[in-house]
Amino acid sequence: MADLTKKKLAGKVAIISGGASGIGEATARLFADHGARMIVIADIQDQLGQQVATSIGCHNCTYMQCDVTDEDQVKALVQSTIQSYGQLDIMFSNVGILSKADQTILDLDFPQFDRLMAINIRGMVACVKHAARVMVEGRVRGSIVCTASVAASHGVRRRTDYCMSKHAVLGLIRSASKKLGVHGIRVNCVSPNGLATPMTCHAHEKSVEEVEELYEARRVLKGAALRAAHVADAVLFLASDESELITGHDLVVDGGFQAK
Ligand SMILES: NC(=O)c1ccc[n+]([C@@H]2O[C@H](COP(=O)([O-])OP(=O)(O)OC[C@H]3O[C@@H](n4cnc5c(N)ncnc54)[C@H](O)[C@@H]3O)[C@@H](O)[C@H]2O)c1
Repeated sequence: MADLTKKKLAGKVAIISGGASGIGEATARLFADHGARMIVIADIQDQLGQQVATSIGCHNCTYMQCDVTDEDQVKALVQSTIQSYGQLDIMFSNVGILSKADQTILDLDFPQFDRLMAINIRGMVACVKHAARVMVEGRVRGSIVCTASVAASHGVRRRTDYCMSKHAVLGLIRSASKKLGVHGIRVNCVSPNGLATPMTCHAHEKSVEEVEELYEARRVLKGAALRAAHVADAVLFLASDESELITGHDLVVDGGFQAK
């Protein structure tokens, strides 16, 4: 009979990039609830990251400054995790941004485009690469989860750069899962629809309530707002042994937005 009280991540060591805020923060808290031995929050917001780590508890969560666009910093993050905690079981590569401007194809601003790609693609891949290398070396049957978006599977009128970057995440997880499967390492992504986080509230210049209302109107499933905790539940599933045979998969968390 299934043990319903079992902690899903007991003894696991995880890195969460972009863990100081939004989806990453919610996931760090859920991983701690599920018995993760150590969660390393990697971010560039030092004060916030420290606060989140302290509120989770210094015995099972720590903060490390890491700008994911700098491969050396990502490598150092992964190496220091191995040195301090002996292994890496889970990488949640989650950092992503929106550009300030609309970025339609007619108005693309290339400096903004380049910055977004450096974070959303290069930074995302750097975390996957260095996690995968230590998992292979350590013979760990690890789980790597990336954050894509519903914009990974659809064209959009605005935010062309963001949409392109999220399409790339699908190519990343599909290719990496093929290469790493032989080592027992799984690579998947979650694709949320819009939800209120600092990223979207800032982009829309609206409150949490206003952003939730905006996205609610576009969802098929009514009666509950999509929250970071819902996305964290999907990440937990992909990170844990419950999804043991799932790899190369895009787990959409969108309240029916993409229903065909
Ligand atoms: N909020 C949404 O509606 C939504 C929908 C679909 C996908 N997503 C994706 O979810 C992920 C998390 O976004 P969120 O909504 O939680 O946003 P958020 O802004 O709350 O969190 C993102 C975190 O990434 C950090 N970060 C930014 N640049 C960084 C860098 N160079 N190095 C390290 N850390 C950096 C930020 O400091 C922040 O803490 C992103 O990949 C985003 O594209 C969000």
